[in-house]
Amino acid sequence: MKVLLAGGAGYIGSHTAVELSKAGYDPVIVDNYSNSSPIAISRCEEILGKSLTFYEADVTDKEALRAIFTKEQPDAVIHFAGFKSVDESVRMPLLYYRNNIDTTLSLLEVMREYDVSSFIFSSSATVYGENAQIPCVETDPTGGCTNPYGWTKLMNEEILKDAALAITNLRVVLLRYFNPAGAHESGLIGEDPKGIPNNLMPYVTQVASGKLPFLKVFGNDYPTVDGSGVRDFIHVVDLAKGHVAALEYAKNHTGVEIFNLGTGRGVSVLELVNAFVDSTGVDIPYEIVDRRPGDLAEVWANPSKAKELMNWQATKTIGDICADAWRWQSNNPQGYE
Ligand code: UFG
Repeated sequence: MKVLLAGGAGYIGSHTAVELSKAGYDPVIVDNYSNSSPIAISRCEEILGKSLTFYEADVTDKEALRAIFTKEQPDAVIHFAGFKSVDESVRMPLLYYRNNIDTTLSLLEVMREYDVSSFIFSSSATVYGENAQIPCVETDPTGGCTNPYGWTKLMNEEILKDAALAITNLRVVLLRYFNPAGAHESGLIGEDPKGIPNNLMPYVTQVASGKLPFLKVFGNDYPTVDGSGVRDFIHVVDLAKGHVAALEYAKNHTGVEIFNLGTGRGVSVLELVNAFVDSTGVDIPYEIVDRRPGDLAEVWANPSKAKELMNWQATKTIGDICADAWRWQSNNPQGYE
């Protein structure tokens, strides 16, 4: 079964390409490398010991998509081709709304022309918004997003729900990711943020490597286990396997289904720092600074629906996440460059 991975050279897309291929699927990567590198694809090939099919194209370019659909005849689409920086989305809202929604619409329109019915979407825990109840359950209310990035995820969910109401054979799975972190255990592929990382784990690994002097812990006065923020860090390989499970699920179900992809365990920022030191032996100097505006005290998933209906659950620990993230960072100090 051929699966088109829109944005398949990125952090989550590349790990998913590997897991799909290992599970017997035939991934077709489409990426414009705006926030990724073709080197990620050659690294995937190295891990798999075989070549992959890939195209350099912008997913909003429907003519380019049609050419790829004509040649490859995919059976399903997984859509990772979105901009993902919360900060940048506040500064450039139109860019985020244009790209993150146009990619979905273009894919859906071309899928209809070619009668492709399965669509897996990279959504986010951010759709639970600032009033999120913990642990988050798929039936909880959504909305109250604090930035344009978050709204694009929620708007895409609504677009896909409406599309599935109107198009009877559409099979949509919305995957709400919690905090993806870590890297493939080979150390060949991983997260390669541009500039100074916004997210915790790449920041920690760059402190570990000496690229950044110390970690700023955003707040130690939250009502949490130790005062620092608590998140549900999920190993990117577990997350990638969630996409394989979602494709299996979509084979037997029309309409829309929503799944949280998280571990169900909250880990605080300071616990993550300690886990990193324990599993790598590398010290992480840090300072406590003010809270970051827009951050919630705690966010974690109730992942039981994914276990029940897709037989998927995360298996890797926070120690695995830290060890694998560090292997990737230390083997590739400049990322894919
Ligand atoms: N943090 C620090 N220092 C840093 C970076 C982060 O203390 O340098 C803290 C944050 O305050 C937060 C935790 O680490 O408590 C995690 O922060 P991240 O930026 O790594 O992740 P977020 O939970 O803020 O955001 C993530 C994704 C978003 C998504 C959101 C939804 O990056 O794409 O989860 O829950 F929208």
